[in-house]
Parts: sequence; structure tokens; C-alpha cells
Amino acid sequence: MLKTHQCGELRPEHIGQTVTLAGWVNRRRDMGGLIFIDLRDREGVVQVVCDSDQQPKAHAVAGETRIEYVIRLQGTVRARLLEQVNPNLPTGEIEVVAEEVEVLNPAKTPPFYINRETEVSELLRLQYRYLDLRRPRMQRNIRLRHEVTLFIRNYLNDRGFLEIETPILIKSTPEGARDYVVPSRVHPGQFYALPQSPQQLKQLLMVSGFDKYYQIARCFRDEDLRADRQPEFTQLDMELSFVEQEDILDLIESLFTEMVHALMPHRGMIEPFPRMTYDQAIARYGTDKPDLRFGLELVDLSDLVAHCAFTVFHSAIADGGQVKAIVLPGCADYSRRQVEELAAYVKTYGAKGLATIALRETEIRSPILRFFSAEEMQALVDRTGAHPGDLIAIVADKAKIVASALGALRSEMGRRLDLAPPDMLAFAWVVDFPLLEWDEDAGRWDAVHHPFTMPKAGHIELLDTDPGAVRADCYDIVCNGYELGSGSIRIHRRDIQEKVFALLNYSPEESIRRFGHMLNAFEYGTPPHGGIAPGIDRLVMLLANEPNIKEVIAFPKTASATDPMTDAPSEIDQTQLDELHLRVIE
Ligand code: AMO
Ligand code: AMP
Repeated sequence: MLKTHQCGELRPEHIGQTVTLAGWVNRRRDMGGLIFIDLRDREGVVQVVCDSDQQPKAHAVAGETRIEYVIRLQGTVRARLLEQVNPNLPTGEIEVVAEEVEVLNPAKTPPFYINRETEVSELLRLQYRYLDLRRPRMQRNIRLRHEVTLFIRNYLNDRGFLEIETPILIKSTPEGARDYVVPSRVHPGQFYALPQSPQQLKQLLMVSGFDKYYQIARCFRDEDLRADRQPEFTQLDMELSFVEQEDILDLIESLFTEMVHALMPHRGMIEPFPRMTYDQAIARYGTDKPDLRFGLELVDLSDLVAHCAFTVFHSAIADGGQVKAIVLPGCADYSRRQVEELAAYVKTYGAKGLATIALRETEIRSPILRFFSAEEMQALVDRTGAHPGDLIAIVADKAKIVASALGALRSEMGRRLDLAPPDMLAFAWVVDFPLLEWDEDAGRWDAVHHPFTMPKAGHIELLDTDPGAVRADCYDIVCNGYELGSGSIRIHRRDIQEKVFALLNYSPEESIRRFGHMLNAFEYGTPPHGGIAPGIDRLVMLLANEPNIKEVIAFPKTASATDPMTDAPSEIDQTQLDELHLRVIE
């Protein structure tokens, strides 16, 4: 090694020792006869002193160094004078007196500060990602990510799981996004698909008898990117044989609980994780990934307004819709403009309007006041549990629109009103998802999770009679408003799988063409099995309290799926295109 110690590990116990350090110049202060260098490596920063009287050569080399130079030095650890002790620095009680200094590699002035947290444009950060990654925030996040995967591996290893790799060049495995495809050179006109997840492969591993499988698996999905979505991302992919839903929930719940206790002991959780059905989640929070760090639950007013004088409300109910409300605490004084802005916000989710009731200290203010008697109005207020000072926000519409509009308003107001305790990790389970949802545009059923999900016991018959009512042994773990992971008990019988494929509008021929390997495997002794796949990026993002998964991925892509550092994607040359039997049409 070119060094004996890490910069950040030096403490008073090293006083008197001669050490060799190597790292980056984090800061340099030239006081004439004395030059102070803050030397940085992965473990932290230590102060180095170069004295022109004692070590003129070392002092001269130090004088040449600039920020981000990589240097190596030998020196002696000594205690700092009492008034120079820096309590904010773990190495702040000592310093290293340099005897020899050597420049290993000079550095141009970096395009942004490395030693300070400053706002830098995303393009610049990603273009110089190798420098961005030197910054303390990214060093922390990437290290945390390592700790998370290490914890997972140890935890699952202790419980008898095998980590098994599955291929990246496969046949399409649908998870509801577009595939990334790879052209085959040897088979003109044929393509591999990159896995959207190892779903089918892990099920086939169960057929092979590998009982308990996991993989820190890379997945690829060509979809619109968002703060919690990257084109390639990582799952903790798991599958177990001879288990029921409860076994999987238990395992993941204790894995996450113990992980947070071990890695983030200051973060609060709700233990045990709250559990609700999909229908309850939609009813109470308007979403299947509720943020449970705050209340603001949706309140159903439908029965109270079914026969009221306000046409918008009673006709919504008459048309089979709903009227629901949320209470915005302390917002009774919102100006007309503020209320209009909230209405505009819910309209982006398809709502036609937002009715409000402001509970001012001495009066109730509401554009719909005149449609209600004092008793009716009081009944509405009582139902919502609102207090003086609050603003009640009401949407009347089809159930789906009410849920999405009020669900979105709930999360948005949770943010604006700062209702979520920042240290909280509110994990929860959402269970009993519907198996299928009707796709209006395509005029067919679509799998809510994926086509391999097993209907609940007793619901298989409903596949023929009322597919929309079929509930599945399908579950999500959610946290702070994000879907962290999804899983299900799988179909392990060919007849049920064929029936589900048929409902999804696959002809028998197409089912065989696309999924023949699964159908065949189910005829060779397939154990009942199930699994789950929490997203590692989202998990680390939540643990690190970051707003975007890019902050926990070493080399992420931009929102348009590019890498500004390597300039991917990029054109390939004509010979490569020819070899792949491809022609680019402008
Ligand atoms: P699903 O498609 O719900 O399930 O994905 C599981 C989890 O993967 C993460 N995730 C993503 N993370 C970042 N960027 C993306 N584009 C992205 N897409 C998904 C999320 C999500 O909850 N095979 C099934 C799992 C199973 O049934 O076992 C699957 O992939 O955290
Ligand atoms: P109007 O009588 O049309 O002025 O509407 C009275 C109030 O009802 C206004 O504040 C509208 O924003 C609100 N409103 C209109 N449509 C809806 C709806 N579908 N749900 C809730 N409020 C609505």
C-alpha cells in the first residue's frame, strides 16, 4: 500500500506515530512559513502542517499543490494545541506534521466545489459524476447502499437463502413497461429482451427445487422516468417455495425492521407495520401507496349529500360516484387565489372542481353554503372532524377520480404544510390487490401486478363469472408514499395460468409462443411458491432521506435516459449495424 493509515481514522491514540497518508487536497491555507492542507480520503479529512523551517522541501511541494491534487505524504501525528482543537472534525484533536510530500497527480480546477455542498446543475453533476461522487453527500449515500446490500446478504444467508444469478439476455418478461431489446448478430431479425425483472426465471428456479432464492438483481424498463424511476434499477428479488403470503410478509417486515435498527437507529417506524387492504387504502388515502407519516384521511360524505340541494353533489351520487373530503388544518384563512390554486391542482387529476368550507373563528365561509341548511352543514363539518381554523376540501366525481384527486391533494398538502416528521420511515403493507383491472383503451383485462399472480383461495371460480371482483394474494410494501416493493403468491398450475392468459386476451398460440416454457414447467412438479421484490434504489433513497433515486445510484441516467458522462446512448458505426442486420430509418 502507498499509505499506512486512512486520513479520517487518525485519533489521539496515534500521537507520536509516523504515518504515510495519500489522498486529495480538500483545502489548502498558505500562511507563509506554514501551509495547512486538509487531506481527504474515503474515511474523512485530517489537517496536515508543512513548516518551512522544519521541512523546507515538504513545504515547497505543499506550496505547489492545489485543490483536488492527489498527494502522498509522510509525517508524524501530534496533538493540536488546545485552542486549535476542532470539535466538529473527528480528527480535530490531532494534526500531521509533514516530513515528505509528493504529488501523485495534479488536478485541474474542478467544475464545482467538492468540499462544500453547493447547488450544481444536474447536467454538470452527471457529466463529471466521478467528481460529484467525491462529495460528502454522495460518499455517504453510496456507502449506505453498500451497507444495505451487505445487511440483506448476511440476513438472508443466515436464513438459508441462496443467491443465484439469472441472465440479462432473455426473452421478454412483462412487468408493464416497454422492453429494452438487444439485436442478435447470429440470428438476423431476432432480439433478446433485457429483463424487466427476473420474474419468470425465479419461478423456474422454484421448479428446480431451490426453495429460497434471492438476487440483488438489475432490471431494465423503458418507461417515462420520474424521481423514483430509472431505466435500469436494482431489486432485492426473492422467491420461496412452500410458503404462504404471511411467511413472506413476516420475513420482509423483520428484515426491514432489523435493517433500520442496525443502520438508521434514529429513524422512527410504526411497529408492527400497519396493514390494510387495497380497498381500504384507496378509501382512506386515495392511493395504494399512502404516506402514513400524517393523517389527513379522506372522509366519505356521500350519504350526507345524496339528497342535498347542490346539484353537483347529488348528481355525482346519483351517477354512482362519490363525494369525499379532506381537512386541511389551519387553512381556513386561505385567500380566494389560494383556494383557486388548490382547485386547479385537483383538476390536473381529472376533478371538475373543488368545493371548500372554511371554518373561520366566527363564521363558515363556503361557495356552497347556500345549498345547505345550518343542520346539514353542521353534519358535514362533524363528519369530517374539522376544527375552527381548518379548511374542508371536497371533490364529487366518479370514485376513481375522487380517489386520485383527493389522494394527490393529500400528499401535496402534507408536503406544503410540512406534516411528515422527517425522521419517520412509515412502512406499511397493502394487501388483497385485485388480480385484474379493465383497460378501457384496449378493451381487455390487464394484470394489476403481473400475469403470474395467483387468485385468492375461493376466488378462482370468479375468473369465469366476475373477473373484476377477483382478489389476489398480492401485496405491496409501501413507505412514506412510495411503493417500495411488490410481490404475490404465484400460479403454479397450468390450467389456472392458461385461464389468466386467456383473460388477458392472449390466444392459446400466443400464450405458448411467449410463455410456453412456464406452462411446460408447471407440468413437471411445480411447488406452490411466492415472492417479492423490493426496489433497492428506493429503499436506500428513503433511508438516506433523498428526494430522488439518482442520489443513491453511482452512475444514474438523466430524465431522458442519457448518460452525459459517457454520452450514451450514441450512434454505432455502419459495420456494426451491418453485422446486426439493422438499418436506421430517420
Ligand atoms: P414490480 O414491477 O412492482 O414487481 O417492481 C418491484 C419494485 O421494483 C422497484 N421498481 C423500480 N425502481 C426504480 N426504477 C424503476 N423504473 C422501477 N420499477 C420498479 C420498485 C417496485 O416496487 N417481479 C415483480 C416482483 C415480484 O412479484 O416478486 C416486480 O418486478 O421499488
Ligand atoms: P358553482 O355553483 O359551479 O360555482 O360551483 C360551486 C363550487 O363547487 C365551486 O367552488 C366549484 O369549484 C365546486 N365544484 C364544482 N364541481 C365540483 C366537483 N365535481 N366536486 C367538488 N366541487 C365542485
